[in-house]
Amino acid sequence: MSPTDVTQAVAPERKALNLLSLLGDAARRTQTPIKTLYPYFNLPGMLSLAAGQPHPDTFAIRSLTVTVPSLDDDGPAEVPLTIPFEPATGATPAEASVAVTRSMQYGTTRGITGYQAFARAHTAALHHPPYADWDVIATVGNTDGLAKCLGLIGSGGDSLLLDEWTYPAAVDTATSHNISTVPIRMDRDGMCPTDLERVLTTWPADRSRPKMMYLVPTGQNPTGVTMPIERRRAIYALAQRFNVMIFEDDPYYYLQYAAYQPPTERRTPLTAGDQPGLSGLIPSFLALDVDGRVIRLDSFSKTLGPGFRTGWLTASKQFLPYIEYHHETTTQQPAGPAQAIVTELLTRHWGHDGFARYLRRLQHGYYERRNRFLDTVGRHLDGLVDYVVPDAGMFVWFRLRLPAGVTGADDQPMQSLLQGLVAAKVIAIPGYLFAGQIDRAARSNEPYLRAAFSITNPDDFEPAVERLAGVLRAMGCGSGALST
Ligand SMILES: Cc1ncc(COP(=O)(O)O)c(C=O)c1O
Repeated sequence: MSPTDVTQAVAPERKALNLLSLLGDAARRTQTPIKTLYPYFNLPGMLSLAAGQPHPDTFAIRSLTVTVPSLDDDGPAEVPLTIPFEPATGATPAEASVAVTRSMQYGTTRGITGYQAFARAHTAALHHPPYADWDVIATVGNTDGLAKCLGLIGSGGDSLLLDEWTYPAAVDTATSHNISTVPIRMDRDGMCPTDLERVLTTWPADRSRPKMMYLVPTGQNPTGVTMPIERRRAIYALAQRFNVMIFEDDPYYYLQYAAYQPPTERRTPLTAGDQPGLSGLIPSFLALDVDGRVIRLDSFSKTLGPGFRTGWLTASKQFLPYIEYHHETTTQQPAGPAQAIVTELLTRHWGHDGFARYLRRLQHGYYERRNRFLDTVGRHLDGLVDYVVPDAGMFVWFRLRLPAGVTGADDQPMQSLLQGLVAAKVIAIPGYLFAGQIDRAARSNEPYLRAAFSITNPDDFEPAVERLAGVLRAMGCGSGALST
């Protein structure tokens, strides 16, 4: 993929549906009063006595130099990247926006011009949203983006449809807005359309109908599942039928990698060149979205580093002013140095093609970790657990073969398991902490465990999984009839 693809893509004629009737609390948001004067600030010849902006001479940074990985296989492993104080002569507005004098200043809450331009071009090239009037806005990562989505469509008393096992922040943020979560059953392909349809067709007449759904469709946290395209289509069709917005939280989208083969069948070793990069990634919900009912959240946390606190949100243009108003009273936009570095790196330094090459390496690293972890699991946990092999993301979701009748201390088998793990010096997360409901304790006896293979040194997989196997065996896993 290259920026040329963007210009070659035919812009669809179709416009988004008018879905503003779904707005929640955000309908009361307005632009902060001073921002309404911004269009005048940069008019030629204007002398500004208006904005309370500090003069760039007072900024404590004169330039920014960071060291980044080189993509040149024959050159040095790392190279410097420098952001100058002033824009270079002849720089385009997007290039100029990166300079310290611009990126460190107050500015648009949609992100610096160059950052927005990258996110827009990248989204167009990768997802080809099938309607014309969409746009992007910078976020401080997907956690921020999700909070803004809930503040956009949600109001106290509403309901949020989500996976029965999900990212805990979604449950906690919804609950803090007095939005109740409605967990939908999952299978090995993610959210079950049959259960979603059941919930929506039997919804009580005296409760306001759900108008929003939260999904992590790729390398789902915690189950590791990547929802196949047919399943995505089925869920999207139900969202259309019941007029529901979809919040597509997809931080693991770029961490898709080649399928697992058991060690005996792994003949020719793969290389980074065999990983998808930016081609052949599964179509997103945004790519299916003919109505403009998907709000897609992208993050650089899992590709460039969580500390950047940068991401972007893509939505139908009708919704973006309300997100912008919310930004104006909260985060404003990601920090200037973070936006400047990400923009410079992904546009002038690497470009789209370089980013694809970088991602192939990253994906290959996760591919090798996943393989090595599952090889170890195959050696030590056979008969003790069941799981779906992940082809994206960082997680394996184990269903423990806990025999019926194992209750653990105080009738809390998962608490006993956790204590056993801590004593054995290996830790993974009991499944119930990912329950899609604030009453997580109600699912505290369900025999699930999430293991992340992203952070541990691969040389430590062997002792970690051996310890886990010891604790599971001590609890009776793999012997006797299974608990339900
Ligand atoms: C599903 C999901 N969404 C969002 C996040 C956080 O993303 P960000 O760092 O962009 O806020 C995570 C990280 O663990 C996640 O698993």
